[in-house]
Amino acid sequence: MARPDPHSHTDLAQPHQQHLAWKAEVDFAGRTLRATATLRFDRGGSAVDLDGRGLVIESVTSPDGRPLPFELGPTEPILGERLRITLPPGVDTCVIRYRTGPEASALQWLEPAQTGGGTAPFLYSQCQAIHARSVVPLQDTPRLRITYEAELTVPAGLRGLMAAAAVDREVRGDRAVERYRMDEPIPPYLFAFAVGELQARDLGPRSRVWAEPSVVERAAHEFAGVDRMLTSAEALFGPYPWGRFDLLVLPPSFPYGGMENPRLTFLTPTLLTGDRSLVNVVAHELSHSWTGNLVSNATAEDFWLNEGFTVFAERRILEVLEGPEMVALHAAVGRQALDEAVANFRDRPQLTRLRTRLQDVDPDDAFSQVPYEKGYLFLRALEEAAGRGAFDRFLRRYMDTFRFQSITTEELLDLVRAELPGALEAVDAPRWIDGEGVPAGAPVARSGRLERVEELKTQLPPPEARDWSPWEWQVYLNRLPRPSPAEVMTALDDRFHLTEAPNPEVLVAWLTVAIRSGHAPAVRRAETLLGEVGRMKYLKPLYAALIAGPGTRSLAEASAQRYRKRYHVIAAAGVESLLRKGA
Ligand code: BES
Ligand code: ZN
Repeated sequence: MARPDPHSHTDLAQPHQQHLAWKAEVDFAGRTLRATATLRFDRGGSAVDLDGRGLVIESVTSPDGRPLPFELGPTEPILGERLRITLPPGVDTCVIRYRTGPEASALQWLEPAQTGGGTAPFLYSQCQAIHARSVVPLQDTPRLRITYEAELTVPAGLRGLMAAAAVDREVRGDRAVERYRMDEPIPPYLFAFAVGELQARDLGPRSRVWAEPSVVERAAHEFAGVDRMLTSAEALFGPYPWGRFDLLVLPPSFPYGGMENPRLTFLTPTLLTGDRSLVNVVAHELSHSWTGNLVSNATAEDFWLNEGFTVFAERRILEVLEGPEMVALHAAVGRQALDEAVANFRDRPQLTRLRTRLQDVDPDDAFSQVPYEKGYLFLRALEEAAGRGAFDRFLRRYMDTFRFQSITTEELLDLVRAELPGALEAVDAPRWIDGEGVPAGAPVARSGRLERVEELKTQLPPPEARDWSPWEWQVYLNRLPRPSPAEVMTALDDRFHLTEAPNPEVLVAWLTVAIRSGHAPAVRRAETLLGEVGRMKYLKPLYAALIAGPGTRSLAEASAQRYRKRYHVIAAAGVESLLRKGA
């Protein structure tokens, strides 16, 4: 047995998947996909263990229709079910007819009332890290990439989009069949689609933005700069490897800021502030086109390879577009988030390592800012040790060497050893990779704008702070003591109207300190906000603040109860776990 991924039944001694032909019919009324997955492997003549979660398997046959032996194992916590199929000698392909379960963890089915338009239902997938198996039976490990072709059948009034190249759309009565193909091999967690009332606006020769009609104009305005971003990224990392870079703005319950689905990045509508102040999230997802999608983590234990490199790349793009001062502010906010994540993991310090051990740990529970911001700081330390020119050449080498592969931390370290001799020793790499917390002497962001904010400490900001960027406000607010005196909260709110902040990052940074300080307007604003957004980055700190704040715990409980159905299952689980812990 060769099972290299603690989150998959994949046995590398068995045949390896290569290509998927997927046909799925979307049934909104039954909240199910009726589907056929035709999986081709590199060989036959062997049993092969696939991953599934909640799938109802109707038949497994060879391409010519002969039944193939299969066995669906018991449901295991975290992993789901093993689907063992026996491929006869000479048969390298199996055809699986199945339905998805009502609770498919990758899918969110939205009622019309949960969308912007209010008239049509909406469906989207979110497969990272280990939810693809609830939509398609396959070897659900990033180690084994697949190409695919797909036919998605949707109600004719809706669009079905996939993170792949569009082939055509054919209307058949009240249904439409949308065909796609993905010719570049992807890890299964990048399989993605969405169905809804969707319209597009072109943003440039290689990009358009998709969204519901009620937000598509705002979205086109917010992301108008995407082509310049793409060109800047190519200057840094080489030609864009995926053809198109389209964006899809999802309904508010999307639990992440963004998801780097290839050719079609998924985004939260909370980015639509009107002032383009959150486009770093687009720079981040674009960067994954190289770090993550081209070079992928071999398992969730090496997740920092995806996210640490991507935060590094995101800030290099930002440096070109917005300058080093802005990068310093972003990095400072990142460092604050890292320190908070490390503090939150005081009971599980193993999860503050870059290279983690996740046997019996759900990747959704291990998720934190550690792989992002500690990974970023480790790469900054290497960059300082090697010098920027040498480190830039190394990054290109990294992307060339591991193109369309999925790698472990060890493989990265071997490449650094070969290409940047002495660099690992110079930064004491083992402390970063396998040590807990943040090493002393980690790179620190410096800039004049940052210093002016930090010098204020807990004093009220001067009137000029009206012109602060959202990042200066976050640095300032995150440094305030919790609780802070009620008069300070009132004075801040009177002068800067923070309870009405249009930028959600500033708003949440403000509300978390103001709630803990008993500032009543903040509690009321949080109460409505919890019903408006589903992004976990905002829900979790807001719930944590209400749980810890003076007299607001019962409001946290009531809100969780009231809004649970609006949240994505992953977000709802995160909120539940905060309430259980009581922290
Ligand atoms: N790939 C992640 C989102 C993700 C991670 C989904 C793990 C499921 C499991 C995405 O690229 C991401 O990091 N999004 C961030 C954006 C931010 C760092 C700019 C987010 O959602 O906040
Ligand atoms: Zn990311």
